[in-house]
Amino acid sequence: MQAKSALITGITGQDGSYLAELLLGKNYAVHGVVRRASGPNTSRIDHLIGDESLADRFHIHHGDLADANSLRHLIDRTQPDEIYNLGAQSHVRVSFDQPEYTVDVTGTAVIRLLEAIRSAMEHGSKPIRFYQAGSSEMFGSAKPPQNEQTRFEPRSPYACAKVYAHYQVVNYRESYGLFAANGILFNHESPRRGETFVTKKITKAAARIKLGLQEKLTLGNLDARRDWGFAGDYVEAMWRMLQHEEPDDFVIATGESISIRDFLSIVFDHLDLDWERYVDTDPRFYRPAEVDYLLGDATKARDSLGWQPQHDIRSLAKMMVEHDLKHEARLARAGS
Ligand code: NAP
Ligand code: GDD
Repeated sequence: MQAKSALITGITGQDGSYLAELLLGKNYAVHGVVRRASGPNTSRIDHLIGDESLADRFHIHHGDLADANSLRHLIDRTQPDEIYNLGAQSHVRVSFDQPEYTVDVTGTAVIRLLEAIRSAMEHGSKPIRFYQAGSSEMFGSAKPPQNEQTRFEPRSPYACAKVYAHYQVVNYRESYGLFAANGILFNHESPRRGETFVTKKITKAAARIKLGLQEKLTLGNLDARRDWGFAGDYVEAMWRMLQHEEPDDFVIATGESISIRDFLSIVFDHLDLDWERYVDTDPRFYRPAEVDYLLGDATKARDSLGWQPQHDIRSLAKMMVEHDLKHEARLARAGS
């Protein structure tokens, strides 16, 4: 059987890098969309770009979710079997400062992709399956636990954009019979997590405090609760959704939710430190509206996709902080 081909938006992000590794391991040809930046933005996939054994199966293309033509051309050129839309302005706090941009890139861009797929298929391309990176943020203030039946009550421009994208995917599925699936993923983290998300901010700071490189960590609301899983487990769920016989929507979560305070305690305890001595708070890091309590129920994914997470919050926190300890020590040695 001929190997499949996948097009990934957001390949330079946390999830894009893990998904590319997963698909390359399954012998896919992988095409990644990279937007033009004034500095290098490929650090999470440089090991794939530099791997000569992948040269005929791993390809990077310039494109932008704000630019419909670039997306259409990319679909024409790469002829994918599967498209994973992971690209987004993905920071909830930033979405309050840049609502219009966030809605464009995180919400409207999904229409650009769905229309490009519809048009390609009308003009005789092979069938293309589409994955949309939906978010537990869409549940917002809905009472936990949240599953596929829970009503969306979004609390940020980012969440509103994701809700819009979610319903467009459902709409294209129903109107045109596209194989389009929504993953409703709860927070997932890793050593590759962006540095302004709270878990990474904490593990990096704790490692630096342990090494004597930093004295304080300043955060926002410590009482919010999140259902945190490992990104490597979650990209496996994305792939399974596109191998399923029918396109559908799935919640992906661990089923355990803890507060930022609890996460601080797990991380600092691991380093034999008392977090309360080092952490302070500043309203600067609060949001105009907060999502207080996310806890996912992934029963449907377990039963229909056979998916379950391999990591829990404790093994994830340990993985992240051990990584940051080594990384920060290496940087300090290189700088001295
Ligand atoms: P991430 O690390 O922030 O990566 C976002 C990606 O989107 C980056 O590759 C970024 O490129 C790209 N991007 C941003 N604007 C773009 C544009 N205009 N055109 C093309 N690409 C653009 O996010 P992530 O954590 O991997 O999350 C992946 C997806 O899942 C996102 O859609 C996110 O909203 C969603 N999601 C994430 C979580 C989570 O907990 N991680 C949970 C639910 C849903 P640059 O490298 O150039 O910035
Ligand atoms: N980022 C950040 N920085 N968050 C903080 C801080 C801080 O200094 N202090 C407290 N928090 C709180 C936030 O108020 C929020 O309640 C929680 O920590 C988690 O914040 P983030 O790590 O920024 O993640 P998020 O839950 O807002 O959004 C992430 O998960 C969503 C899925 O639920 C992102 O990855 C989204 O893209 C994703 O959709």
